[in-house]
Amino acid sequence: PVKPAKAARGLRFDAVAPNTADQVTVPGGYQQNVVIRWGDPILRGAPAFDPEHQTAAAQAGQFGYNNDFLALLPIPGERNRQLLVANHEYTDEVLMFRGYDAANPTREQVEVAWAAHGLGAVVVEEDRRSGKLTVVSRHHLNRRITATSEFLLTGPAAGSSLLKTSADRTGRKVLGTLNNCSGGTTPWGTTLHGEENFNQYFANAGRDTDKRYGIGTGASERKWERFDKRFDVAQEPNESHRFGYVVEFDPYDPTSTPRKRTALGRFKHEAATVRMTSDGRPVVYTGDDERFDYFYKFVGSKRMRHGNSRAAREHNLTLLDEGTLYVAKLTGDSPASEIDGSGTLPADGEFDGSGTWIPLATATARGAVSHVEGMTAEEVFVFTRLAGDKVGATKMDRPEDIEPSPQSGKVYVALTNNTNRGKTGSPVADEANPRTNNKHGHILELTERRNHADATSFGWSVFLVAGDPADPATYFAGFPKDRVSPISCPDNVAFDVHGNLWISTDGNALGTHDGLFGVATKGDRRGELKQFLTMPNGAETCGPIVQERRVLVAVQHPGEVDGASVEQPASAWPDGPGKIVRPAVVAVWRADGCDIGV
Ligand code: FEO
Ligand code: CA
Ligand code: CA
Ligand code: CA
Repeated sequence: PVKPAKAARGLRFDAVAPNTADQVTVPGGYQQNVVIRWGDPILRGAPAFDPEHQTAAAQAGQFGYNNDFLALLPIPGERNRQLLVANHEYTDEVLMFRGYDAANPTREQVEVAWAAHGLGAVVVEEDRRSGKLTVVSRHHLNRRITATSEFLLTGPAAGSSLLKTSADRTGRKVLGTLNNCSGGTTPWGTTLHGEENFNQYFANAGRDTDKRYGIGTGASERKWERFDKRFDVAQEPNESHRFGYVVEFDPYDPTSTPRKRTALGRFKHEAATVRMTSDGRPVVYTGDDERFDYFYKFVGSKRMRHGNSRAAREHNLTLLDEGTLYVAKLTGDSPASEIDGSGTLPADGEFDGSGTWIPLATATARGAVSHVEGMTAEEVFVFTRLAGDKVGATKMDRPEDIEPSPQSGKVYVALTNNTNRGKTGSPVADEANPRTNNKHGHILELTERRNHADATSFGWSVFLVAGDPADPATYFAGFPKDRVSPISCPDNVAFDVHGNLWISTDGNALGTHDGLFGVATKGDRRGELKQFLTMPNGAETCGPIVQERRVLVAVQHPGEVDGASVEQPASAWPDGPGKIVRPAVVAVWRADGCDIGV
């Protein structure tokens, strides 16, 4: 049995020490199982995983690669079962194919990669006596969406000339989704998925707008443009304008066509999380994960309908097409001279200040209106980064996941790192991004004015400055630093039922492995941060879900270490030595059957 340590409720476990073990390490008294791995068959007819003879047809019926965001949804009428929805962000060909020649990929390898991208939905069954989850293969809700599945573009930019291609004269249909990083779930039963680093799939770009999105001028790394000309910007200039959106997916309807919601703007969407206004309209927070880029919110103008009728469901699938898109501007309340980039707190004792949500454009049923001088509404929704530039939004240290607390309404923004902060020619430290050469990242806490989700102004403070607590530049909401775990590079965030914030990391710059942490956000233990688990070699922690009796994490890119390959693996996880490394989802529970951390 677990001896509950004295700690905030929900965080009463023995913190896992930083380590470099090639495994998922959990606290004493906790157990784990691998729920599903890359290649596990989920659709009817899909074959067992055979990495030496993988085919695109097999992959299209199997769980995809590099699981990131996870959602776990109830299934009405099916006891002890939940629907797991996962993002498959990107492929790591050198770890997938024996003898992979990066200069000359084969068509079959490229098509396997297309089929390994996208989304997956799979029903999982709960063990009655533990937190263990197992896959229900061939369930009718199991689904794969890939880089070639049909999508609809909806909202104010749909049908625009900026989105038309030779294959789609309507500007409303697109094949596939790419680089889905984190996401969110909506109160109306759908999931949201951020298309993040879509730039890497496109070749031969050159326009200023392409540059602002990081689309390269030469060949792409995966050379997909050799196998489908839509990835060649020189031949198909608008195809890249059809990626970089928030995808909405209805996992309860196995025939649904997923939608790309242009009203939420186009950039490297990390995630998209929802809070409702008091009159029932959705507000979606979403960040753009790039050094010196922005974070945004969309305020919907239509009210959600309750109930599960067909009319209600169809209505709710239009909620994210009408409303106003805003970008954040933050102003510190301490003199700039007190922000020296060292992380030393200013004289008022806090990195904090006020902020405004600057409107960029509004989409209505009758059309869209731009609020940015010199840009049409369509341009704002397709070249959203340029709109943020024009209105002087605040350049942040890589906004990753952003999530409102279901208990308090406060919004937490994970800023993963930015080693260019303060470099010659780059922005210097400011009160919201207070460290030069920010290697370890930080987390902001926002309070909307009057705690109204649709407010146009807010207060903010830096909740946590990550790093080794022995480093004077770190800050844990004022909690004593000799009683917290070291943390570096916060990425995904989630809440438990107690109101604690859970943080997964990507790229630990302290020399140990990434992991999952819980931190109290209220009471006299606010800022108490404890490590709950650590990752295998080379892996990033993703998709945390913290239920009362179970923690779920996505182990993304295990074995992704410079120089590693199928022949020279850097990890033996999860199947052991001699087996190919596989990204996978892991469930963790308490051996004595009690709730997590109580
Ligand atoms: Fe895919 Fe920003 O992490
Ligand atoms: Ca201050
Ligand atoms: Ca991420
Ligand atoms: Ca990341």
